[in-house]
Amino acid sequence: MRVGARVTMVSDTQLDDDRTSAVIDPTEKKCGVNVFRAPRIANRAIAAYPHRAWLLLALTGLMVDITHYLNDCKFILVSNREPYEHMRGPGGIEVKQPAGGLVTALDPTMRRTHGTWVAWGSGTADRDVSDETGRVAVPPGEECYTVRRVWLNDADINGYYHGFSNRALWPLCHMLIQHFEFRTEYWERYRTVNLRFAHAVADEAERCTGRAMAWIQDYHFALASEYLRAMRPSLFIHQFWHIPFPPADILRLLPAGIHEAVLRGMLGNDLVEFQIDRYAVNFLDCVDKFVAEARVDHVHQTVSFRDRVIHVGAFPISIDVDRFEWMAASDDSRARVATLRGRYAKGTRQLGVCVDRIDYTKGIPERIRALETMWSESPELRERFTFIFVCTPSRTDLPAYNALERDVTQSVMAINEKFGTPEWTPIVLINENVDSDLLAAVYRSADLCIVSSLQDGMNLVAKEFVACQLDERGVLILSRFTGSAEEIDGALLMNPFNVDGFVAAIRTGLEMSPEERRRRMHRMRRQLHNSTIFDWLDSILARSTEIMGAQHQLHAVV
Ligand code: ADP
Ligand code: G6P
Repeated sequence: MRVGARVTMVSDTQLDDDRTSAVIDPTEKKCGVNVFRAPRIANRAIAAYPHRAWLLLALTGLMVDITHYLNDCKFILVSNREPYEHMRGPGGIEVKQPAGGLVTALDPTMRRTHGTWVAWGSGTADRDVSDETGRVAVPPGEECYTVRRVWLNDADINGYYHGFSNRALWPLCHMLIQHFEFRTEYWERYRTVNLRFAHAVADEAERCTGRAMAWIQDYHFALASEYLRAMRPSLFIHQFWHIPFPPADILRLLPAGIHEAVLRGMLGNDLVEFQIDRYAVNFLDCVDKFVAEARVDHVHQTVSFRDRVIHVGAFPISIDVDRFEWMAASDDSRARVATLRGRYAKGTRQLGVCVDRIDYTKGIPERIRALETMWSESPELRERFTFIFVCTPSRTDLPAYNALERDVTQSVMAINEKFGTPEWTPIVLINENVDSDLLAAVYRSADLCIVSSLQDGMNLVAKEFVACQLDERGVLILSRFTGSAEEIDGALLMNPFNVDGFVAAIRTGLEMSPEERRRRMHRMRRQLHNSTIFDWLDSILARSTEIMGAQHQLHAVV
């Protein structure tokens, strides 16, 4: 790597004052200079837009009332990642919202249900602001629900989070088995932490006078429902699995006894929710094959197990569409769009974007390879468009993620050196977790968005892009292997493993007429408006209420 090699970066302050590229000293450990000096600091946003809370409340009043499903029922949500992290910063305690689909989707739903969210207290200042039971009211400045933090020590984090969750279940579920690693100690820790969370939820349920409902999130807690069921047999427990569920031949790469234990743990739920039907079918197949005493009804998607019936179904997750539209429509956003387009899409030049956590499931090297192939094979396409990569580092304690982050930065630098000219930088790398207001402007400014996941439960970036495309100018190039590809009709679908097909999709996108773009985007936007995050929550709560009602009747008869 050449010293002083150029990686063009922008920041939100730079967007306003028109300074551009940063010269990186590659001897620094991280080439990604802090470019968007804008962590997602919720209270700062509230301070900057005091009218927002009012506006959100006004919008909320117009939307479907989901809470009627809950009546007096206390809503307890459980996830590994917390929605707000309190961090010690140079100027005191800051509040950050971590990047990731789970938090993006669930924070708006918790604002509506006013429940309690049980999660790992991962922020450096979390203990300073929580009470003795780990509770704190959030979001800052708009306090409308409670986060109850569970404290984990280093051994817990290594074994349960980095270990079994992220080195075993994450790669298996995404079918990227070259990253799969199993250690007994990971499994032991995973069990201990799942039990600890189950205790925290049982305690929350204990504290309320009326009924309660526990809603467990994701692969970090495959065992928690079973433990919780043993503590509170009549509690309604359901679980949303945010990532793909693998076929039996992949799940059985877990040692004998362990894949069965994972499935039995999930059968502690009354309802297990997946993103799309294929994952629900995989789960039922695995139960059929590996849990001898379970009886699976594939037609009705139920499992009879230990005198209980477990329901399984597909509930595709979405985003708070109004909020993204509103951010994209703001005056700030309009100004930023003008700046971005003035800088990167002058004349007939087009602007492409992608937004990801740096994760091996997202197909980032495959995307870079496609761009490189395209610019090598078709020199006439150089300078035709600039690509903004908004990629936030993720799970950096794991070697595979660390190596990927380095690799992405180096490949971008190499491409910029190979094809760049004094007037044109092919890829602008933003190596940061950026504020969602700024993300909305980036999405709105684009002519093209690429989502190239090798496997992805849903992929919310695709939906955010569509929501922010108020001018209906953009083309969505979307991997076939995302849940979104099975939901969104209007994207250009491609296979990220097929370089030539990938390049062809980018070409088609670049050459698409404005009318065709508008037609497709209009269709996608209409679909998205009919399946927002609130519709998702509504359908899950409706199904839960229905099952609870049936259980109630059964108990009354018995
Ligand atoms: P995953 O859940 O695997 O991270 P999704 O696409 O479903 O993938 O969700 C990612 C979420 O994280 C989206 O809401 C997206 O806006 C957010 N996100 C991803 N990268 C960044 C980034 N660099 N800065 C800010 N937010 C990001
Ligand atoms: C995916 C997972 C979430 C997770 C997120 C970010 O969306 O489904 O459970 O929170 O990635 O990953 P992290 O490990 O930072 O929480």
